[in-house]
Amino acid sequence: MGGRPPSSRVMALLVALLPLVALAGVTAKHPDKGSQERSFVIDYDNNQFLKDGRPFRYVSGSIHYFRVLPSEWRDRLRKMRMAGFNALQTYVEWASHEPEYGMYDFSGMRNLTHFLTIAQEEDLVVILRLGPYMDAERDMGGFPYWLLNKNPDMRLRSSDPTYLKYVDIWFRDVLLPIVKPLLYENGGPIIMLQVENEYGSYPDCDFAYTSHLRDLVVAGVGKGPVLFTTDGDGKNYLKCGKIPEVYATVDFGSGTNAIKAFEIMRLFEPRGPLVNSEYYPGWLDHWGVPHNTVKAEVVAKTLDVMLALNASVNMYMFHGGTSFGFTAGSNLGNRFQACPTSYDYDAPLSEAGDPTEKYWVLRNVTGKYLPLPPGEVPPASPKFGYGKVSLAPTGSVFQMADLLQKVTNKWPLTFEELLVPNGIVVYQTVLPFRIVSSSLPVVYECVYNTG
Ligand SMILES: *[C@@H]1O[C@H](CO)[C@@H](O)[C@H](O)[C@H]1NC(C)=O
Ligand SMILES: *[C@@H]1O[C@H](CO)[C@@H](O)[C@H](O)[C@H]1NC(C)=O
Ligand SMILES: *[C@@H]1O[C@H](CO)[C@@H](O)[C@H](O)[C@H]1NC(C)=O
Repeated sequence: MGGRPPSSRVMALLVALLPLVALAGVTAKHPDKGSQERSFVIDYDNNQFLKDGRPFRYVSGSIHYFRVLPSEWRDRLRKMRMAGFNALQTYVEWASHEPEYGMYDFSGMRNLTHFLTIAQEEDLVVILRLGPYMDAERDMGGFPYWLLNKNPDMRLRSSDPTYLKYVDIWFRDVLLPIVKPLLYENGGPIIMLQVENEYGSYPDCDFAYTSHLRDLVVAGVGKGPVLFTTDGDGKNYLKCGKIPEVYATVDFGSGTNAIKAFEIMRLFEPRGPLVNSEYYPGWLDHWGVPHNTVKAEVVAKTLDVMLALNASVNMYMFHGGTSFGFTAGSNLGNRFQACPTSYDYDAPLSEAGDPTEKYWVLRNVTGKYLPLPPGEVPPASPKFGYGKVSLAPTGSVFQMADLLQKVTNKWPLTFEELLVPNGIVVYQTVLPFRIVSSSLPVVYECVYNTG
């Protein structure tokens, strides 16, 4: 949206008004019913956002629908609203919605529309991170595993046509048609759409790819919503992460010098609102390492500094929740770092969804800048003791393997080649007594559970 002259912005507004006429009856139930137009734009002259023509700043929080049971969605969103937060940020997880190629799932915990509608009912606007890649410490960063079945050599997150083919179908035919009616201009809660995710941290620097994504989104939903990118607060991240005509924002945690971090953002966005799209109240965990925590006072201090600068801030995470099943991902530091099932994140709402001490400390900071809604913060949920659960051994892995599907091949097959999304594959082979040549193929058996 960067260099667009004011006149085309007015045009975009007029176009945005047209669907509103048709929706007049529907929009009447929204809190902003008094305003004649629903618009959300960047006011470059005054370094701020404008919502319905009025200055607007958000303090938002990340809650991922795919990490919280739908029965708890409203409770968690309400608790966030009651802390003075006025926006929700979430990723869209491609793998959740297209678990197998061409098989789409938007039901239950994957009902994006339902989640965003509850957010709107709870008086939160939405910042949606479309992907297609998201990271988020999820298996394969949210990519469907079957991409690598289509082409094992696929260059993910690039302009490789064998990759873009599937991204195009997902965005154009499935995701964007769901997103469009939920846009703010169309009576829904979504004010902003993120393209890719911290792309500047990826070794590739493929501008053809990121520009393609931008054009794909604009073709699908129009020029109305504010498009943005998020990258670490370093010049080298933004250099590859920034997409022309897409608003560049940064992310950083507590203890960072916020003024310095925003100076980096200013190198790429000389004007417009300051935005931290991922402000960390805690941190993610890895197996074998103690739970990461960050002191509430430290988180409160940097939040206060950013809000005093008039910045808009998203807290990542406000409520982390749980990576159920095999959905947790991993990182690669000096060694492979697997993430556990818990995504507690030492966030203001615990993994169980309860307000923590940090919740109250941060609520006080937000309350200095945004009105706290009247009423009581919902209490912690009641807990139940399930007693002792005893487990008895039923057999060894190899005994179990006999009950599962078996594939025999000359070389070991990958999960993707076997069309196994996740879980366990047992590889078995019998080595000849005397190996004549190391290049001699041996016959492998792969045994796996497709359930
Ligand atoms: C998603 O939730 C909405 C209610 O918000 C419902 O109307 C719709 O049927 C649900 N979709 C699916 C696929 O279950
Ligand atoms: C924040 O916004 C207010 C109101 O527009 C303005 O008076 C103030 O100077 C701004 N502060 C900073 C640090 O930009
Ligand atoms: C929040 O602010 C109120 C009023 O200043 C104060 O009484 C309370 O102790 C504060 N709570 C926390 C957790 O800092």
